[in-house]
Amino acid sequence: MAEPGGIAEGDLEAAGLRLSVTGEVATVSLVRPERRNAMTGRTWEALAHVGQTLSESVRIVVVKGEGSSFSSGIDLNMFRPGGVEGETSLMDRIARGSADDAELDAVIAGYQEGFRWLRRPDIVTVAAVRGHAIGAGFQLALSCDLRVLADDAQLCMKEPALGLVPDLTGTKPLVDLVGPNRAMELCLTARTVSAAEARELRLAELVVEGAELDAAVDDLVAALLAVPREAASATKELLRGAPGRTLEEQAAAERRAQAGRLTAMAAQAARG
Ligand code: ACO
Repeated sequence: MAEPGGIAEGDLEAAGLRLSVTGEVATVSLVRPERRNAMTGRTWEALAHVGQTLSESVRIVVVKGEGSSFSSGIDLNMFRPGGVEGETSLMDRIARGSADDAELDAVIAGYQEGFRWLRRPDIVTVAAVRGHAIGAGFQLALSCDLRVLADDAQLCMKEPALGLVPDLTGTKPLVDLVGPNRAMELCLTARTVSAAEARELRLAELVVEGAELDAAVDDLVAALLAVPREAASATKELLRGAPGRTLEEQAAAERRAQAGRLTAMAAQAARG
């Protein structure tokens, strides 16, 4: 059986993911609750595939975890001899000397593709986070445009405590949101951030009681859908680019975007 976008449902489920599309809204769920939604290389490849094959009609993507945790991050079996069942163990290959730097770069770039598409301007992505979002799980939430947290959410950038760096595109949004010093403090202590602190640090747009999480996300999605798609896309692109531009450059970007909008609206009015 194929999901919208031609992804075999069985392949997604085997990778720990489920995709459901209703109208303009896609929901990507992590579905290994018995492992607290730990993710493997295959999960990230499947996530990239979801992004590549997402129906053009989809405007909003909600990312959530089944069960009590959003995600416990990387499947720790990836670091153990033998790795994860059914997947080539990168650690074993490195130990054997059969994975050079270029290859590692390519493998990690492939994993990052699972996270990068969530910033695309043609969609708005919302992370619905309950319980733990650790390491790669935290980075997945950070990759989304907006984060709605249940009050039991616990965020932790655990990678440095395990001898690693966060490499799944989470460092940029973290620094953009909380600033380099706070990002350093969070990463280098690998401490856990509560939902209340996450709101203070602007890591969450909204914090609600656990029982209200789904309803709060539904309300947010409805509000996002009420804004015309083209205006939303152009505005998202404008806002995402703002931190890297000077005021002059941003003003010019606003003018370009607005000219595009006005032209499109005039053409639409002329068509009646
Ligand atoms: N990888 C593999 N298995 C995991 C992971 C994981 N990341 N997280 C949980 N599990 C497994 C546990 O081993 C346990 O398996 P078992 O039932 O066979 O014993 C099962 O999932 C349930 O986990 P518990 O620890 O019993 O659940 P609890 O709710 O008490 O704790 C928590 C959840 C806090 C997430 C805990 O499991 C944990 O700390 N996991 C590891 C987190 C981690 O270090 N992730 C890596 C971050 S770095 C990165 O992502 C790059």
